Amino acid sequence: MNFEAEILTTPHDNSELYMIPSMRSLTAEEYVEAFKSFLDHSTEHQCMDEFNKEQMPNIVAGLGTGKSTINVLGVGSGTGEQDLKMIRILQAVHPGVSIDNEIVEPNPQHVAAYKELVNQAPDLQNVSFIWHQLTSLEYEQQVKEKGTHKKFDFIHMIQMLYRVEDIPNTIKFFHSCLDHHGKLLIIILSDSSGWASLWKRHRDCLPATDSGHYITCGGITELLRRLGVQHRVYELPSGWDITECFSEGDAVGGRMLDFLTGTKNFQGTAPPALRRRLREALRQPECSSTRDGRVIFSNNLSMIVVDS
Ligand SMILES: C[S@@+](CC[C@H](N)C(=O)[O-])C[C@H]1O[C@@H](n2cnc3c(N)ncnc32)[C@H](O)[C@@H]1O
Repeated sequence: MNFEAEILTTPHDNSELYMIPSMRSLTAEEYVEAFKSFLDHSTEHQCMDEFNKEQMPNIVAGLGTGKSTINVLGVGSGTGEQDLKMIRILQAVHPGVSIDNEIVEPNPQHVAAYKELVNQAPDLQNVSFIWHQLTSLEYEQQVKEKGTHKKFDFIHMIQMLYRVEDIPNTIKFFHSCLDHHGKLLIIILSDSSGWASLWKRHRDCLPATDSGHYITCGGITELLRRLGVQHRVYELPSGWDITECFSEGDAVGGRMLDFLTGTKNFQGTAPPALRRRLREALRQPECSSTRDGRVIFSNNLSMIVVDS
């Protein structure tokens, strides 16, 4: 696969076809709402819970050996639920060790919600938190300007690489932030997901308003091979119940289509032919399956564990 082509080709290919004035991208706030709706109707976080339970204890067992503090960096942490689950695993595997947790997250609403979650957690003694309300690139620039290149034992980038400015450089930079025996965890959509099929085989159904990279696991592992870094991939099944997308005018379905297409009010602003074609694409077996009369879009995830 041509990695450059894979990650640098953005949906803007369709701009001539579907650049109609009433269509616009989601703002950061609208994206937060659409993402919440996606989480409510998908097994995204349950899939991560399964990985945390089955694999994470082994993965983090060798981190920070002999140190009194384990340094953790979350990049694109969102509202922090996944981060806190991983911190609790670290606490269980390394009892008594302090955890220094830094977070790079540009969305102020997400940072505020994360802080609130920490305030309400009774079990985070020995854990310190530093939030950087920045994009990963801004953080990288800040680190380079200050010349303080702190090393981390564990860095995670969970479902966030789609939105960074430059994926290869981002991975290269954060990999360089790993301490000896450190690990970088990247969670990204699997090549077997409906997203991968939608982006590859039905790209023409997606409007130009969708911004971000169409990247799945294979694009990342190709880059890691080029960088010559050791990594292991775990594939886990996950589904997203998109049945409401097929009910014209349904509010829940409308938010789902907004998340799928990165477009505000896709249902109300996209040309009817595009709406019809997207719905047809979503029903294709490479995207979705039917269970008990519900349409389940494949949201399979890949957990990539990269060595330092
Ligand atoms: C899909 S959410 C995932 C949140 C969380 N990691 C999770 O899995 O629940 C993507 C997150 O990446 C953040 N993000 C977007 N662009 C980013 C960038 N350039 N650098 C760092 N984070 C970014 C968003 O604000 C959002 O919180």
